[in-house]
Amino acid sequence: MNGKRPAITIFGGTGDLTFRKLLPALYNRMLSGSAPDGQDIIIIGRRAYTDAEYREKAREWVKKFARLPYREKTFETFAQSIRYYRMDFTNLEAYPALDTFLDEQGIETCVFYFAVAPRFFATIAEGLFQIGHAQGSQVILEKPFGENLDDARALNARLEAAFGAENIYRIDHYLGKEMVRNVQTIRFTNPIFADAWDAKHIACIQISALEDVGVETRGGYYDHSGALRDMVQNHLFQILSILAMERPAAFTPEAMHEEQLRVLRALRPLTEENIADQVVLGQYDGYREETNVAPDSKTETYAALKVFVDNDRWRDMPFYIRTGKKLGRREMEVAVVFKSPSPDIAPTVLLVKFQPTEGVYLQFNIKRPGDFEDIMPVKMDFCQSCSIANRINTPEAYERLLSACFHGERSWFSQWDQIETSWKYVDRLEELWGDRTPAAYAPDTAGPREADALLEQDGHHWFREP
Ligand code: BG6
Repeated sequence: MNGKRPAITIFGGTGDLTFRKLLPALYNRMLSGSAPDGQDIIIIGRRAYTDAEYREKAREWVKKFARLPYREKTFETFAQSIRYYRMDFTNLEAYPALDTFLDEQGIETCVFYFAVAPRFFATIAEGLFQIGHAQGSQVILEKPFGENLDDARALNARLEAAFGAENIYRIDHYLGKEMVRNVQTIRFTNPIFADAWDAKHIACIQISALEDVGVETRGGYYDHSGALRDMVQNHLFQILSILAMERPAAFTPEAMHEEQLRVLRALRPLTEENIADQVVLGQYDGYREETNVAPDSKTETYAALKVFVDNDRWRDMPFYIRTGKKLGRREMEVAVVFKSPSPDIAPTVLLVKFQPTEGVYLQFNIKRPGDFEDIMPVKMDFCQSCSIANRINTPEAYERLLSACFHGERSWFSQWDQIETSWKYVDRLEELWGDRTPAAYAPDTAGPREADALLEQDGHHWFREP
């Protein structure tokens, strides 16, 4: 590499994402020996830090959030690879100086990570393009990709022009989660599930991504985004499309993307008539007092949706999706609720647990032991993350995705046409929703009551592991 070094340059280096996820992931990669040799980490932020001050911050966050144990010696090596560069990345005139800085550092190949709000993507791309750093570099973009369909299209065109389509990596960190990757294996390699994976055998599928935290320090971003753009349009629609897709002709990234896209294209459109029965948006009490949130904000911190995939496999079977903040617990799971032979028999339920515990839980029926004839549900519970070896060997989503980008493996990232299709759905939802006020819910509860009613009207309820 002519004496020049590879680097990852992170815009938004003093933000939550960098501290909580990116730095710990880069440290884990170094500790597990999977970081590229001599890779520099260039941090770009607007606050004033010296390298030494920033490295001390990084130490705190690595100690707190890294999956692997803190090791002084490894951290010192890691810290030496970090350089902090202060700039206002919204100002195009600041980019020539960045060019000089990167040159002085001897940086040649670069992965740029835009860990900033999407409204800054186009400016940063433009700035890098003007100084000749976009050409030949890779760019990783945080979600949401754009703020709506039109915006996403314009942004995509701008980024493709600057970096080239093949160099754009649109991150959806849920695609890097261990159990998300596992869903296809569980489904396709077990005939008891594979052969019953349709509306004939399944009553409903529920996807839940519940969070205990509120918006924390991210009010400025979140108030423009809300749960629909922050979680549903990307993470939850990705999971939905993986769960509902047809078996691909081959398990290649292209064939899988094709099948996922078909699912998204088959989503039953929302209309004036069905929106009230299919959508519940909520806001936790106290949200409007959070920092950088408008005092009259109507942004949803909770969303529950009933969606239908209009194809032969899934016709008229509801998929329920919910996500929200301040729900009293952090839990991401998918419940596949099978049809029960009679109303007094509990349904067979397959529960795939993504976090905080990773595992698979199956509820099924047996005869009550002893001189009884009645039927009772029992469970089998496989806890994957209970084994220390599994825990230590399982990289976190961001570690996986950073590695995938460094190796040019694009299958781990969202494809443009999937993003475009899910934006169409969310844009329509927002248009139909209009100016309505989201339902209020108390913090640390299960969310608005209306979200329970969404299922009850169909004779279902949110499944909870007993
Ligand atoms: C992010 C959202 O994409 O995902 C956050 O912007 C959310 O609002 C986070 O908290 C949840 O991720 P995880 O991995 O903790 O489920």
